[in-house]
Amino acid sequence: MTGRLFLLTVQFAMLLSGCEMDLSKENRLSTSKFGEMPDGRDITKYTITNKSGSSIEVINLGGIIVSINLPDLEGNMGDIVLGYDNVTQYLQESPYMGAIVGRYANRIANGKFSIDNEEYTLAQNNAPNALHGGLEGFDKKVWSASPFETNENAGVILSLISEDGDQGYPGSLKVEVTYTFDDQNQLTVDYKATTDKSTVINISQHSYFNLNGHNSGQIGDHEMMINANHYTPINDTLIPTGEIARVENTPMDFRKAKPINEDINTDFKQLEYGLGYDHNWVLNQDEFSQAAKVYAPKSGRIMEIYTDQPGIQFYSGNFIDGMSYGKDNFAYAKRGGFCLETQHFPDSPNHKNFPSTLLIPSETFESKTVFKFSVRQ
Ligand code: BGC
Repeated sequence: MTGRLFLLTVQFAMLLSGCEMDLSKENRLSTSKFGEMPDGRDITKYTITNKSGSSIEVINLGGIIVSINLPDLEGNMGDIVLGYDNVTQYLQESPYMGAIVGRYANRIANGKFSIDNEEYTLAQNNAPNALHGGLEGFDKKVWSASPFETNENAGVILSLISEDGDQGYPGSLKVEVTYTFDDQNQLTVDYKATTDKSTVINISQHSYFNLNGHNSGQIGDHEMMINANHYTPINDTLIPTGEIARVENTPMDFRKAKPINEDINTDFKQLEYGLGYDHNWVLNQDEFSQAAKVYAPKSGRIMEIYTDQPGIQFYSGNFIDGMSYGKDNFAYAKRGGFCLETQHFPDSPNHKNFPSTLLIPSETFESKTVFKFSVRQ
């Protein structure tokens, strides 16, 4: 049964019964073929459905979340992440939609960094800088996948070995990313990595959200709160200057929820550099806590993000240009979706005052981010 058919069947059964489905652990998860890599390897789609009929779909290419289907305030299901229907578009034209980005999410200045006085050079795939792990970052790799189901949730464990020298990074890195979707409409992303040689790591989830539906236009009306008193200003190539600046009295202040478009066109150098918001906020807490909350008045949908990471990149989809036709043949326009990427700060290896992204062989990198979805009535 295909994922979509499975979901329809669950929703139809719910309609008939008029109540919540009692999902036993056998039917939370279904798999189907999503497509094929150019070399013929199969790409599988995992559809995880919960008690209320909400679902997420994940593929083993790039750990990409291809859909998140949730009810709006009238109970209508809608898919709230941007994406594509096929492997080719994900490989050739996707601006990292839905993907796991790494080994180093966001930018490293001029594609260069050093560990113990040894300099490493990365592809300048976002000239003059390195972006999201390189030409073949984690978003373009085929991951091993092992799905699981329990009575409360279901998910997929994705794993990968990024060899020593992969994309220019030192050390053979073992990475594991686990997606878990539960009956409270919470999507948990657990990250784990170990290396056999000192390296840098910054790994994130790069979904583009539009809480009104992926095909509903722009996200300017979404009300956003970011739990941060500071952010890291950037230069004209979007590399942090190293300063930790206060958000107070600037358009970067999201401490109280405000519509994304409220200040986005303010005459402010940082917004000019990013063509809108494309910055890292320094989260107020560095232990697991709420980092951001977004509310879309039109649909009533709410997304809260909890993380243990020190930063979050809020990217308002400024470079989406309407040229790319996504799912349901919908042309995604500028600011048709936004990303909230929990992370360490961009270009940390070149800034001693930023929290370290160094991973050494005796340590295990572990991190957790939760996306909690609900509806305001
Ligand atoms: C970056 C943007 C970039 C986008 C897509 C985001 O994480 O902050 O600058 O354009 O990813 O590549």
